[in-house]
Amino acid sequence: MSTAEAPAGSSEFVDFWNEVLVPKFVKYRHILVGGLTHHSAKILPSLEVGEGDKVVDVGCGFGDTAIEFARRVGPSGSVLGVDCCDGFLEFARADAKAAGVENLVFVEGDAQSYRFEPVHDFCFSRFGTQFFENPVAGLRNMRTALRPGGVMTMIVWRTIDDNPWLGLPKEIVLQYLPPPGDDARTCGPGPFSMADQDMVTRQLEIAGYADIEFERVDAPLMVGRTAEDAVEFQIALGPAGEVYREAGEEAERRRDDIDAALKSELSKYETPEGIVMASSSWKISARNPD
Ligand SMILES: C[S@@+](CC[C@H](N)C(=O)[O-])C[C@H]1O[C@@H](n2cnc3c(N)ncnc32)[C@H](O)[C@@H]1O
Repeated sequence: MSTAEAPAGSSEFVDFWNEVLVPKFVKYRHILVGGLTHHSAKILPSLEVGEGDKVVDVGCGFGDTAIEFARRVGPSGSVLGVDCCDGFLEFARADAKAAGVENLVFVEGDAQSYRFEPVHDFCFSRFGTQFFENPVAGLRNMRTALRPGGVMTMIVWRTIDDNPWLGLPKEIVLQYLPPPGDDARTCGPGPFSMADQDMVTRQLEIAGYADIEFERVDAPLMVGRTAEDAVEFQIALGPAGEVYREAGEEAERRRDDIDAALKSELSKYETPEGIVMASSSWKISARNPD
């Protein structure tokens, strides 16, 4: 397992994650982890990961997938979870301890430059790689974690049109506020930056991968227990949240109208489980050549 740690916080995107997004992700952890789990749960059983394997989880966030891998590889295997925000890893370490999982280490680092040891059988990322400032460099660096023949699987969002849980609230908020300017602070290229199959194939090829495969994964996603919960979540995070944040005082002035419009639209998706909307991702797998 690698212990070589590259300092996180070296880019404006990493700073943005730490300063702006960590507190919001912590507040809406129930929505985020619950929702994102639908996409990994559909593919995890089919992954080439078994007892004794060494696994890396890139952009592991609260660490739930890393803990799941640690159980799967057992005491003879190991898992390294890397994330640029220690604020997430504190939760991950506590959960691993509570679960009694010991073959797992969480380290703070920028996965684009972290010095991995090339010993891992499998490298995974659920919705982490789409935020890389330089995707080719980041993907290439993830490949350095793999032994020859090792496999990388990442889950990324498909287009915003395939993800109405994020697209629809953005459209509504844009009826009241201007789009973010070019100088808006962001979390990186963003949730839909790896939606284009041809472009990502090319990125992976340049990063040195072989046997590149895409599989579409569609899943319902609970965006709030109630319509009010969903409105708050959308105002805080994602593309609608970005429009709102960047509009500053103007957003505060229009808040009541925006809340009402969002509530009216999101209420249409009410189910016994809460507000549930459609979402769609890619499972993208590729191999480090022998
Ligand atoms: C959408 S969250 C997904 C978290 C987790 N994988 C999950 O599915 O719940 C994206 C994660 O990527 C992390 N991240 C973004 N850029 C990163 C980078 N350059 N290096 C390491 N982690 C990064 C963020 O801190 C965040 O935890």
